[in-house]
Amino acid sequence: MADECFGHPRLAALYDPLEADRGDLDAYLLMVEEFGARRVLDIGCGTGVFALLLADRGIEAVGVEPAGASLDVARGKPGGARVRWIEGDATSLPPLEADLATMTANVAQAIADPDAWHGTLRGARAALRPGGRLVFETRDPARRAWEGWTRRESYRRTDVPGVGAVESWHQVTDVDGPLVTFRTTYVFAADGAVLTSDSTLRFRERQEVEADLAGHGYALEQVREAPDRPGREFVFVARRPGA
Ligand SMILES: C[S@@+](CC[C@H](N)C(=O)[O-])C[C@H]1O[C@@H](n2cnc3c(N)ncnc32)[C@H](O)[C@@H]1O
Repeated sequence: MADECFGHPRLAALYDPLEADRGDLDAYLLMVEEFGARRVLDIGCGTGVFALLLADRGIEAVGVEPAGASLDVARGKPGGARVRWIEGDATSLPPLEADLATMTANVAQAIADPDAWHGTLRGARAALRPGGRLVFETRDPARRAWEGWTRRESYRRTDVPGVGAVESWHQVTDVDGPLVTFRTTYVFAADGAVLTSDSTLRFRERQEVEADLAGHGYALEQVREAPDRPGREFVFVARRPGA
């Protein structure tokens, strides 16, 4: 079980309105520029926000996403035809020779299963050209972000155009070592529907991610901070050796 809301059509359509502030993507746009990337693979692209920002800037964007309902939202957006969308995960990619692969908004944590995680690192490396980079963020477990995922601290009421008011909140249901499971509840004022979605995230230590990257043949260039969330996230910049 991981992030099941992304595959649910009614919930996938809520993702953008509920996550309206995407300042987190600025740092990724800057990295695209910094590394001179012209072809970018966005792994776990969700509703396609980042891939579409790239396409707007004339970058060749490929978005891969296992949740079909999220990908349907992405495909239907203005400019959607300029992105190459692939339904699936990084283990089943065609040869891409990408300059950069990204996992924005803590996709890495959503890939909680060890086999899926290792498959993702292997697949991303194979999709990069020699010298290409993989960049992604993951929350620092020491900050214990899940402690704030209570109804009291996360409750929001959002007016969603075409949908009406939606109340939403998170509640942690289980903490099992590095695995944190939480339930998100959505209440739709329009018809009184109550939907829930269960998600499990893996909180990896910095050293663990570094070892995983090395094990898959990446050279770690840097571990940065997320400028919009200082001290809370590790942002890994890893390079496929060569060229
Ligand atoms: C929090 S969303 C982030 C979506 C998008 N990157 C963004 O910035 O808006 C996490 C995404 O990871 C996707 N995901 C879950 N498991 C995955 C996997 N094994 N490979 C790729 N993506 C995965 C989910 O379906 C979901 O769309």
